[in-house]
Amino acid sequence: PFVVTENCIKCKHTDCVEVCPVDCFHEGPNFLVIDPDECIDCTLCEPECPVNAIFPEDDVPAGQEAFVALNAELAKAWPVLTVRKDPPADAGEWDGKPDKLKLLER
Ligand code: SF4
Ligand code: F3S
Repeated sequence: PFVVTENCIKCKHTDCVEVCPVDCFHEGPNFLVIDPDECIDCTLCEPECPVNAIFPEDDVPAGQEAFVALNAELAKAWPVLTVRKDPPADAGEWDGKPDKLKLLER
């Protein structure tokens, strides 16, 4: 499956959800995750993310391995999102900021 990683936190552009053929994106307060049990590896979402936060599970950036388990866990707790919504007003300021995991809201 594909995995949403750290740079989505507080960016949350949601372009990704529109292209998913199996509607497996789940939305939290300031982050999205992919349900690994539903993702069919179609690859369509990866280029849609303006901040390049989506990676194949076996190719997540170094240091972000925890996001594999986090996507699986949070997908069970959060509702599905299928329609794009406006990102946070300050999304641009958070693109590429390090250590955003501690800012994840559940
Ligand atoms: Fe959905 Fe395809 Fe992305 Fe998996 S790879 S989350 S099926 S758009
Ligand atoms: Fe996040 Fe990128 Fe989707 S910022 S909500 S993974 S388009």
